Amino acid sequence: MTTPKKLFIKTYGCQMNVYDSERMAEAMGGQGYVETKSADDADMILLNTCHIREKAAEKVYSELGRLKPLKAKNPDLKIGVAGCVAQAEGEEIMRRQPAVDLVVGPQSYHRLPAMEERLRMGKTALDTDFPEEDKFEHLKSRPKAKRAPAAFLTVQEGCDKFCAFCVVPYTRGAEVSRPADRVLEEARDLVERGVREVTLLGQNVNAYHGHEGGLSGLIRALAKVDGLERIRYTTSHPNDMEDDLIAAHADVPELMPYLHLPVQSGSDRILKRMNRSHTAESYLRLIERIREARPDIIMSGDFIVGFPEETDADFEATMELVRQVKYGYAYSFKYSTRPGTPAAERPLVDPDVADDRLQRLQALITDHQHEIQRSMVGRDVSVLIERAGREAGQMLGKSEYLHSVHVENCDAAIGEIARVRIVEAKTNSLTAQLL
Ligand code: 5AD
Ligand code: SF4
Repeated sequence: MTTPKKLFIKTYGCQMNVYDSERMAEAMGGQGYVETKSADDADMILLNTCHIREKAAEKVYSELGRLKPLKAKNPDLKIGVAGCVAQAEGEEIMRRQPAVDLVVGPQSYHRLPAMEERLRMGKTALDTDFPEEDKFEHLKSRPKAKRAPAAFLTVQEGCDKFCAFCVVPYTRGAEVSRPADRVLEEARDLVERGVREVTLLGQNVNAYHGHEGGLSGLIRALAKVDGLERIRYTTSHPNDMEDDLIAAHADVPELMPYLHLPVQSGSDRILKRMNRSHTAESYLRLIERIREARPDIIMSGDFIVGFPEETDADFEATMELVRQVKYGYAYSFKYSTRPGTPAAERPLVDPDVADDRLQRLQALITDHQHEIQRSMVGRDVSVLIERAGREAGQMLGKSEYLHSVHVENCDAAIGEIARVRIVEAKTNSLTAQLL
């Protein structure tokens, strides 16, 4: 028997890349590769890259520079770049770093096995097409190995929203939904392998239209899959929060009370310039309706500060929106110019001003986050046990609200859902006792 070759994948960016990396590893499994956790003993290294903010490409080039000497140690080592930097830079990557053998965009990685065969013949391989065929169908189905209890499942890709700051519509292309029967098949397969919770992924997941009734139709169908106990979805756009999706938060018990719903800014003037086609007010009304459906829901969001022409008053409007919503989690970023996007041409905010705003916003969000975590003390929640903790008898998992919970003296096994009482809130996790 030939010894398997080793594949090292380094994943940057969003959860969709995490999912894509898993699928690339599976595709390469068919070519005789097994995954390794270290670049040093790899026969192939793939960087699965992200292009959402500036310096992403530069980071990839410096990582490639660091990896290049490994080729001197192992002349058969192949280096590949996948993901959104690959899509955006294409051939330029091989020109700037000749150590790169393979460049594959996020829509073409089902062609990796064929590309790898080219590499074996001493050639290089480049594919940044948006092919007609469904990449998910061309990948081998996942091997039947046991899986961790919480898994990602990509159901939709691409985005037609064209926010003025964002490269996603260019790197990931137009919105495409996977057919519901394929998603359901994959979900059943995941459950057979020990998965209890799926997070449905899409750049604009609530624009999903592969099932009658859209995303809520899919969620309702998934809720009927035996053994699938928890469903989440991310990332959503406020304009695609249909009535039935909101209703699903009230009447589908498997749908977890956590929602990531980015708004980006609390200023209507900036929202307009961002091409978001909603207002701060319409967003707040939407959250009110979601909270009517599911009063304990924890909200999460994304914010950009220092968007071109953002004034102090615009920024204050963002702070005010955050105060009103009180997010359990939120991610805030300093605006980063992305060449080729409409906002790239506009006058920038002074970087020191933007830094100061980012710090203030993050401090406010962190206060809310801690306050919400503290308010969990004394409450009973369900924890999906994912792994053993560091201390004896301790198990770790996530509550329905996505909080990390350490359960003390826990005899529940990995994959079980334990009912617990929260006894303490630490900075980044909660401590609980079994009920
Ligand atoms: N600059 C800063 N943040 C950005 N995001 C997207 N594009 C940019 C950009 N050019 C943020 C948005 C989005 C998240 C995934 O990344 O907040 O919701
Ligand atoms: Fe980018 Fe999200 Fe806007 Fe689409 S909706 S353009 S992915 S920020």
